Formats: sequence, C-alpha cells, structure tokens
Amino acid sequence: MQEEDLEYVQQIEQEVYSNPWPLVAFESCYAEDSYVLFLEGKVIGYVCLSVVLDECSIMNIAICHAQQGKGRGELLLRRVITLMQERSVRYIYLDVRVSNVPARSLYEKMGFRKIGLRKNYYNNPDEDAIVMALDCEDLKK
Ligand SMILES: CC(C)(COP(=O)(O)OP(=O)(O)OC[C@H]1O[C@@H](n2cnc3c(N)ncnc32)[C@H](O)[C@@H]1OP(=O)(O)O)[C@@H](O)C(=O)NCCC(=O)NCCS
Repeated sequence: MQEEDLEYVQQIEQEVYSNPWPLVAFESCYAEDSYVLFLEGKVIGYVCLSVVLDECSIMNIAICHAQQGKGRGELLLRRVITLMQERSVRYIYLDVRVSNVPARSLYEKMGFRKIGLRKNYYNNPDEDAIVMALDCEDLKK
C-alpha cells in the first residue's frame, strides 16, 4: 500500500464497513505490512497486517462491493498466508464479527479455527468478536 492508494482504500473502507477506519489509521500502517489488490490498474481490495516475530495479526481485509464473491478475497488471503510462510511466521490471528458469515466462511475455508470470543468488541452495531487463528505448520501436514 502506497500513499497514492489511500484515497481508494478509504473509499472501499467507507463502502464495506458500518464503522470504517479513519484515514489516520491507514496512514499509520500503510508504510508497514499493508498491501493492495489491483484489478486492471484499480485498487479493489487491501489487507493491513501487523507482524511481530513469528506472529501476524490481520488488522483489516476488504474487497470492494462490486468485486465481492468472485474469489478476490480468497486470492488476497492466500497471498498473505504464502507471504507469511516465506517470512517464517507461524501463527496468523484475526478478529471477526459474529454476524460476518462471508468472512467467517472464508477464514474457515483457509484453515483458521476459532480460539476465543471478545465480548462486545465492536460497536455500530454492538457485537462480539470471534478470535480466529491459523497455525501455518498445519498447512504443511
Ligand atoms: C470478507 C471478504 C474479504 C471476502 O472476500 P470475497 O472476495 O467476497 O470472497 P471470495 O469470493 O474470495 O470467497 C471466498 C470464500 O469466502 C466465503 N464467502 C464469500 N462470500 C460469501 C457469502 N456471501 N456467504 C457465505 N460465504 C461466503 C466462501 O467460503 C467462499 O468460498 P467458496 O466460493 O468456495 O464458497 C469480503 O466479502 C469483504 O470485503 N467484506 C467486507 C469487509 C469485511 O467484512 N472484511 C472482513 C473483516 S473481519
């Protein structure tokens, strides 16, 4: 993710979330482990990661409305997993709204497992977060 991508990333963020990240949140992480997915030169999705030693947290992942349900999110997540394996990251963590069936299904398909629940973690609307984790070692079995 580069500075010039932020405008498009922010547009997608506003489009897909009821409580979008403010621009400053992207500004603080774009120089780190954040990536955009392009289709025909247009930003159609992004992922923001936090990587510390052998652990990665997926802080945000989204695909614009028009491109959802076409395998783009899976492509992006597979790329993240491969990248983390190349960097010897073992565990990948994320939080997801209980009601977010598309995202939960995607994560389960990729091998993520539920490891916990954060009560009332989200607002607008108030909702619990499911904590999920992927052990990259399991993918080698
Ligand atoms: C969650 C998200 C990233 C998935 O990306 P996507 O490109 O729409 O998903 P894909 O087309 O790659 O689908 C991959 C898998 O996800 C699951 N999935 C996707 N859409 C689904 C839906 N509407 N209902 C149920 N499962 C769904 C399925 O398991 C699917 O695999 P399948 O096609 O073999 O059934 C995307 O919907 C999105 O950006 N949502 C809004 C932001 C968001 O909720 N981010 C996650 C926050 S934790």
